[in-house]
Amino acid sequence: MCNTKSSFLISATINDVLIGYILGEYINLDKLNSDKRHTDGRYVCYITYIHVVDDYRNIGVASNMIKFLIKLQKQNIDGIMLTCDTSNNRLVRFYKKLGFMEDIMFRTYSRFETYYKYL
Ligand SMILES: CC(C)(COP(=O)(O)OP(=O)(O)OC[C@H]1O[C@@H](n2cnc3c(N)ncnc32)[C@H](O)[C@@H]1OP(=O)(O)O)[C@@H](O)C(=O)NCCC(=O)NCCS
Repeated sequence: MCNTKSSFLISATINDVLIGYILGEYINLDKLNSDKRHTDGRYVCYITYIHVVDDYRNIGVASNMIKFLIKLQKQNIDGIMLTCDTSNNRLVRFYKKLGFMEDIMFRTYSRFETYYKYL
């Protein structure tokens, strides 16, 4: 894991070859909206992108990277957040299996929904 004050990168490798990654940032939700619509003060890891190369999918690489992130940051953050295309049923199922749920504070009622997992 590569970790800075505002962002992180988790990589999964086999024999030094990159097979997957999670890119994300640390966000204080208080500072997200100037209109004060979302001011619950959660400090979260926001997953910007997650990717696993085709040949290594469906063997738990992405799940393990998320579990690794949780284990590492459990003491430091309130939860993990991401936005996902709700028309991608497999992806939604993937996140729900890992304990994510729709975030009512950020409900968009559009094709893209915000999902959250409390830690
Ligand atoms: C989504 C993704 C990261 C999952 O990685 P993975 O290592 O295969 O995931 P795991 O093996 O830990 O878990 C398997 C679950 O991932 C999901 N999944 C697998 N391939 C998927 C795909 N092509 N699209 C969406 N979800 C997929 C499914 O829910 C699957 O569970 P299922 O077998 O019950 O359907 C991977 O498919 C990927 O890189 N997709 C392309 C990029 C992408 O869509 N990223 C998310 C948007 S940021």
